[in-house]
Amino acid sequence: MRFRALGNTGFQVSVIGFGTWAIGGHDWGRVDDRDSIKAVHRAADLGVNLFDTAPLYGNGHAETVLGQALEGLRNDVFVATKCGPVEPRPGLMHVDLSRDGLVRQCEDSLRRLRTDRIDLLQVHWFDPAWPIEDTMGHLADLVQAGKVRAIGVSNFAAAELARAAAGGPLATLQPPYNLFARDIEHDILPRCIELGLGVLAYEPLARGLLTAKFDERPVLAPGDIRRNDARFRMPTLGRYVAAARRIERIARAQDMTAAQAAVAWVLAQPGVTTALCGAKTATQAVENARAADFEPDAVTLDRLARAAVLEG
Ligand SMILES: NC(=O)c1ccc[n+]([C@@H]2O[C@H](COP(=O)([O-])OP(=O)(O)OC[C@H]3O[C@@H](n4cnc5c(N)ncnc54)[C@H](OP(=O)(O)O)[C@@H]3O)[C@@H](O)[C@H]2O)c1
Repeated sequence: MRFRALGNTGFQVSVIGFGTWAIGGHDWGRVDDRDSIKAVHRAADLGVNLFDTAPLYGNGHAETVLGQALEGLRNDVFVATKCGPVEPRPGLMHVDLSRDGLVRQCEDSLRRLRTDRIDLLQVHWFDPAWPIEDTMGHLADLVQAGKVRAIGVSNFAAAELARAAAGGPLATLQPPYNLFARDIEHDILPRCIELGLGVLAYEPLARGLLTAKFDERPVLAPGDIRRNDARFRMPTLGRYVAAARRIERIARAQDMTAAQAAVAWVLAQPGVTTALCGAKTATQAVENARAADFEPDAVTLDRLARAAVLEG
């Protein structure tokens, strides 16, 4: 495993992070918690020390399973979770970034994660109804209280990032980033570099498209959010499938899988600290963790980027 400094937090985190959205068991079809726990353990065996979760993932279930899986490992790992959206009952999701709301969400996450501190608490997304300057103040108080060690945000635009950083000790951003989705390169990644933020890139596999395992007729379980994702619908899907096959050919020539090449490409981009890879099984977790072994040269990185341009 390779490790990098996470912004100014003082923590060294693995370049591969483990994302737990799918193991929440609600939005990506059914999962067996025993498989999820095995996946977490195999990732940790291979040096993955950063685990990302959120109360929203399975309405607390991902945090609960992660807390169970990390029993006995807690002091060796870095646990990142999120705050803001709450869903007291299915379908009743709203954002609460009030002081009391944040204290309550923090306590709930600590209980589910079976821990006494959250290493990184991230605002899940920007909500104009809640001034980010106030939110940063409330989160800084949680740091003071020893409940949280560092503060991050997710899905923020460049201007929102600047406001958050001016409002308190902002350490990280979690944005979407992969070979098919490079928007953050325009102004968000440069802003992160300027502000010295750690960057946790999510969806590095484009929800599995970049593993090259899908064809034009993907089998997706009931309840899998990809059933409602335009990228997984023809004719768009066909263009992604063709690009993923081109990427796979380049990867294979260098003994990588398509997934590993996609993750290695993300890790090679300036400003990125860690690629947060989702995994439902130990096999996926191992393949993703081993992406850290590859550092493709500039020519290969360029070929991968060109192969990812959608045709047609
Ligand atoms: N902050 C945010 O708003 C936000 C949003 C999205 C994600 N995230 C974070 O980022 C993490 C990663 O993103 P993501 O899970 O959405 O997408 P992703 O990492 O691009 O894709 C993960 C999915 O791809 C499939 N997969 C993973 N590794 C594979 C492999 N080696 N071979 C074949 N299939 C593989 C698995 O699903 P199947 O086996 O079912 O295909 C897995 O659930 C999340 O878990 C979460 O922690 C954050």
